[in-house]
Amino acid sequence: MWELVQETVNYIKNKTNFTPEYGVILGSGLGSFTDDIQITFTLPYSEIPNFPVSTVEGHKGALVFGTIGDKNVVAMQGRFHYYEGYSMQEVTFPVRVMKYIGVTKLIVSNASGGVNPNYKVGSIAIIKDHINMMPEHPLRGKNDSRFGPRFVNMSEPYSLAMIAKVKAIAQAEGIEVHDGVYLGLQGPTFETLHEYKMVKVVGADCVGMSTVPEVIVARHMELETFGISVITDIGSEEHLESITHEEVLKAAKAAEPKVRLLIKELIRQY
Ligand code: HPA
Repeated sequence: MWELVQETVNYIKNKTNFTPEYGVILGSGLGSFTDDIQITFTLPYSEIPNFPVSTVEGHKGALVFGTIGDKNVVAMQGRFHYYEGYSMQEVTFPVRVMKYIGVTKLIVSNASGGVNPNYKVGSIAIIKDHINMMPEHPLRGKNDSRFGPRFVNMSEPYSLAMIAKVKAIAQAEGIEVHDGVYLGLQGPTFETLHEYKMVKVVGADCVGMSTVPEVIVARHMELETFGISVITDIGSEEHLESITHEEVLKAAKAAEPKVRLLIKELIRQY
């Protein structure tokens, strides 16, 4: 894994001498964040050695390099999901690469199903913690201590300082935000009514099929991490609709301007 990561990093460094400080992973329906970036360089995943290629509709596959204010950023337009058939090592490979091209802070966005009764479709939840219920762990196997320690401290997976900054930005901009615990399941099925009930019972506020592996690997390498979720559907007895991927994308798109603003200002101000 170390050699593969370094090979990919060397390839990218030969293509561009741009050193990003922030890495951003864009979730379903949130890809237009790249419009906020003064783009200097775009690299399609298909051209990057050792990179998987994304298969889900609504996810483009490219690394986008550029600036926001005076900060250097690399954004992943399109991410890799476990349900697509990738191993957890493949799902998290780009996070490893980001670290070694210079990234120290990772921002992750996603769409999720809400079980917190205060959430509505379109609510924005700042992820304050997660519960990992995915069936495979990205750090399973022999640990390579060049990346990080065998046993990773997860007492603050989501940076409290970054959360405080985004809450202040949201207040200043008049954007309503919640905070919440995100539970990661493998998908690709949306949850049954009783799976949503389980999500609630175990103490989560929302549920989705991404983010957890990337954040674990980011913390393995001590990247400071921030996560934000758009609630695209509600999983409760009163509200359980027959959710489709199209509806998820539509709801995420509707909240996108607000999420974009929060992420953009976090990068500028933090
Ligand atoms: N469940 C899982 N993943 C999701 C959901 C959901 O309800 N909505 C968007 N992504």
